[in-house]
Amino acid sequence: METDRLVIAVDGPAGSGKSTIAKRIADILGLEYIDTGAMYRALTLKVINEGIDSKDTESILELLQTTSIYFKDNHIYLDGIMVDDKIRKNIINKNVSNVAKIKKVREKMVEIQQKLSKSSNIIMDGRDIGTVVLPRANFKFFIIASVEERARRRYKELIEKGEKDISYNQILTEIKRRDKLDSTRKISPLRKSPESYEIDTTNKTIDQSINEIIDIIKGGN
Ligand code: CDP
Repeated sequence: METDRLVIAVDGPAGSGKSTIAKRIADILGLEYIDTGAMYRALTLKVINEGIDSKDTESILELLQTTSIYFKDNHIYLDGIMVDDKIRKNIINKNVSNVAKIKKVREKMVEIQQKLSKSSNIIMDGRDIGTVVLPRANFKFFIIASVEERARRRYKELIEKGEKDISYNQILTEIKRRDKLDSTRKISPLRKSPESYEIDTTNKTIDQSINEIIDIIKGGN
């Protein structure tokens, strides 16, 4: 357990609300926020831009050698260019789990994430934060919601961002596929660690979920 700093790990499947929740908690408690999914997404963007198949592990590893991914002022940069919006497109959603299951990709990302976590009070969200990246976190939360609700949220978000040619059913199928890939992969699968607090956001507003988490942190239990 960390003693001198506040370190919070947040994990959960796509569309569970973990990023929204983690960002708001960072603001409320004055913590640094790290969105680890953005790093896997940024590499996936480069893979797609280079015309590489997301299953072509060898080419992806070669690409990784000459790729720089970092955060500055809460924005994500790929080779020096801010890519906040580009990494949220549905084509990235569809390919990111293939890229994220590659062992050497994970090793590099986890190394960066652990370095980032050393200096300040922090909240980090992803799939393997409580289990692998920050096993000594003071608090671990596992955010869930029904798959239909998660697909509804993701569909709404993509439509609001102007994506065309998508349907709710297609997004539902894609989310189920990504859930399966993320939770059955060999290396650091999405898994709730026994000491995590499970927060089900299905029938809750964001504020309700946030309050539940803040109460747990303030209660110190
Ligand atoms: O927002 P959403 O939950 O859809 O995605 P995200 O948190 O940005 O993560 C995108 C993908 O990156 C996930 O589906 C995982 O395949 C991968 N990921 C991971 O493997 N490990 C992490 N710590 C974070 C994301």
